[in-house]
Amino acid sequence: MQSRYFTLTDYPEGVPSREIFKLESQELPDLAHGEVRIKNRWLSVDPYMRGRMSGVRTYVPPFELGQPMDGGAIGEVIESNDEKLKVGDRVSHMGGWRDVAQVSGESVFKLPDHDVPEQAYLGVLGMPGMTAWTGLNQIAECRAGDNVLVSAASGAVGSLVVQLAKAKGCHVVGIAGSAHKLAWLESIGVEPVTYKERTAKELGDAIALASPEGIDVYFENVGGTCLEAALDHLNEGARIAVCGMITSYNERQEGVGPGNLFQIVARRARMQGFIVADHWSNYGYFLNDVAPQVAKGTFDYQETVEEGLERTPDAFLALFEGGNTGKMLVKLND
Ligand SMILES: NC(=O)c1ccc[n+]([C@@H]2O[C@H](COP(=O)([O-])OP(=O)(O)OC[C@H]3O[C@@H](n4cnc5c(N)ncnc54)[C@H](OP(=O)(O)O)[C@@H]3O)[C@@H](O)[C@H]2O)c1
Repeated sequence: MQSRYFTLTDYPEGVPSREIFKLESQELPDLAHGEVRIKNRWLSVDPYMRGRMSGVRTYVPPFELGQPMDGGAIGEVIESNDEKLKVGDRVSHMGGWRDVAQVSGESVFKLPDHDVPEQAYLGVLGMPGMTAWTGLNQIAECRAGDNVLVSAASGAVGSLVVQLAKAKGCHVVGIAGSAHKLAWLESIGVEPVTYKERTAKELGDAIALASPEGIDVYFENVGGTCLEAALDHLNEGARIAVCGMITSYNERQEGVGPGNLFQIVARRARMQGFIVADHWSNYGYFLNDVAPQVAKGTFDYQETVEEGLERTPDAFLALFEGGNTGKMLVKLND
């Protein structure tokens, strides 16, 4: 059986070009003991993958040039040499950026029986959802009544953060980059604020209007002017959960930090970065909490879907242009 997969031909500087992604194919070897073969139906593309294209190790190893890329995927077992998995099982695993994956059975997660679409395990019930839940509850220690600000608020992580915070009884302001996204935020009771064409001062003024009682929790996905604007409106004892800083992922050089970082001292604030993988032992608690609510329709789960393996790089690149509302996914055709 053939597997078609993407490789990288070069480590990009700045915004990656479509040309560095090469679609290749290979004949899969016979299944070894403990391995499974999976026909992928959904692939995940995520901002962290840009860091893996830099050729240096960050908190995950880089993609190797000329080698199959990988990432989150959902598929169906079509052949199994692992007694715990049978043909037809639906699984989540890391053999993405390809149509057919052959991986160790130990490394896959059999999807539980919640009444949700299977691709939810790449988004609201997968890594991004777990990131939202961990960052808001454990890192920011968000409490009922907090004034919460979220950047990239309509993305995979941000869209669950704002809804979890609303469910706690918080006043929530969401920063996003297009009229469609702002309208969606408003429709779920979040105060929408755009960052487009605004200086940090102008964005800060808009945040102050939307959150007149200041900010107790800032969930940071973006960095740059969003961070600078948020710092000036922190309340005393504010908590900032630093999840990501997508503004810097395509920068050729390290940027200069915000000039008003001293606000962390003045407001006795706490700013803490986190990586969701370090909290994965809590994934079961997260699923128990959030999956029934997703199944009930409590959360408005958004996704943006590109069709066909060939479109995977396009889906990935669109993340840096705001091309997605909710989770960006690639759906593979039969
Ligand atoms: N720490 C962790 O363990 C962890 C885990 C998962 C994700 N993350 C981080 O969480 C953040 C969100 O990830 P996600 O998967 O949910 O992605 P996402 O928000 O679904 O997609 C990225 C969004 O970021 C916004 N964006 C892109 N470039 C921007 C720029 N230059 N300035 C401002 N906004 C920009 C765009 O929305 P607009 O149209 O609104 O601009 C885009 O839709 C990322 O920083 C990611 O690296 C961290």
